[in-house]
Amino acid sequence: MRRFQRGDLEHVLKLEEECFSPEERYSRRVFESYLLLNPIFYIAECSGEVVGYIIATVRENTCHVDSIAVREKWRRRGVGTELMNAALRDCRDRGAKRAVLEVAVDNDSAIRLYSKLGFRVKELIPGYYPGRDAYLMEREL
Ligand SMILES: CC(C)(COP(=O)(O)OP(=O)(O)OC[C@H]1O[C@@H](n2cnc3c(N)ncnc32)[C@H](O)[C@@H]1OP(=O)(O)O)[C@@H](O)C(=O)NCCC(=O)NCCS
Repeated sequence: MRRFQRGDLEHVLKLEEECFSPEERYSRRVFESYLLLNPIFYIAECSGEVVGYIIATVRENTCHVDSIAVREKWRRRGVGTELMNAALRDCRDRGAKRAVLEVAVDNDSAIRLYSKLGFRVKELIPGYYPGRDAYLMEREL
């Protein structure tokens, strides 16, 4: 687990393509915009391979977990948990008192991960993703 470096962007974009549908993935431009916001941005790396990433931002004492993804062949090994724990620790250090995120209602694996980490569904957001509703999940930090 280490912090994002500029040279990781191409790998993150590839990972993004592998993990999200075209309507839901972040473009290069979106990542570039995030980089201007001083985000909490961690990379999970194994033997030189970028296998996962997380981006979170802190606004008004609230940590927003904006995106997390792990390469398919590396899933169910605790990488997502480690990424979340690293980001949430940094958010706390930046003064965040709670963390929130949006997740598609049918994204069972992500919902299970977040629930295991103490997030609870706060509300349903209809049409948050193209053609899909989302839950807003929240936990205290
Ligand atoms: C969601 C995601 C990041 C999880 O990453 P991961 O590295 O597999 O997560 P972990 O190994 O830390 O899993 C932690 C726990 O979450 C739950 N979980 C994760 N994937 C699961 C799955 N496919 N089925 C059931 N439970 C799952 C389990 O409780 C797991 O603990 P366990 O393995 O001890 O049972 C990964 O599946 C992913 O990249 N998905 C595609 C991108 C995505 O949907 N991102 C979230 C957008 S909101």
